[in-house]
Amino acid sequence: MTGISLRYRVATPEDIGLLLPLINSAYRGEESRAGWTTEADLLISERIDASGLLDKIQSPDTVILLAADGNDVLASCCELVWRPEKGIAYFGLFAVNPKRQGGGIGRQVLLYAEDYASRQWGAYKMEMTVIWLREEIIAWYARRGYRKTGETRPFPYADIGNGKALRGDLYFEVLVKDIQERN
Ligand SMILES: CC(C)(COP(=O)(O)OP(=O)(O)OC[C@H]1O[C@@H](n2cnc3c(N)ncnc32)[C@H](O)[C@@H]1OP(=O)(O)O)[C@@H](O)C(=O)NCCC(=O)NCCS
Repeated sequence: MTGISLRYRVATPEDIGLLLPLINSAYRGEESRAGWTTEADLLISERIDASGLLDKIQSPDTVILLAADGNDVLASCCELVWRPEKGIAYFGLFAVNPKRQGGGIGRQVLLYAEDYASRQWGAYKMEMTVIWLREEIIAWYARRGYRKTGETRPFPYADIGNGKALRGDLYFEVLVKDIQERN
């Protein structure tokens, strides 16, 4: 377990300038290669832009959680979307500063997000989607209790904007974890 103590809060529109570099440097591009898992070999594009982030922050069923260290420096973030009709919280936009990965921050943030979804919404399942080729991150989630459901979802090639997909065979695996025992 990491010794880093993290403080959490829900993002507001004022946080967009902080969040964009964190998310986009963690997922894709050369900076992301400093971390242990990246989409840089699959996609050339930003993961999200300012208007996409604002839509999420302003959506009533969505929270973006920020995790800052003891010096109030942003270390990680994630998105939770509440789907009350299914009792499921969707987990996404998960990023740790690439220079700080591998130290246990991601593990802590994922646990906090599960607790948050359970406490705030009474969610009994967490769901996420991962590009099928990302075996190392699927294995990481499996060690945290997430399993493949067998469901797949199409990759949104039309939404890459000015970016470019480096492969034509991308799709998502759906992973799920029962978090009911946390209620
Ligand atoms: C996924 C992510 C949030 C995890 O955060 P993190 O702080 O690195 O995670 P932790 O430090 O808690 O865990 C690191 C794990 O990586 C493993 N790891 C380290 N180097 C590795 C490597 N080269 N290959 C595979 N696993 C490796 C460690 O063994 C550890 O796993 P364990 O706890 O089961 O032993 C972070 O890597 C990230 O931001 N990635 C880029 C964005 C992304 O891919 N988001 C998820 C999309 S589905």
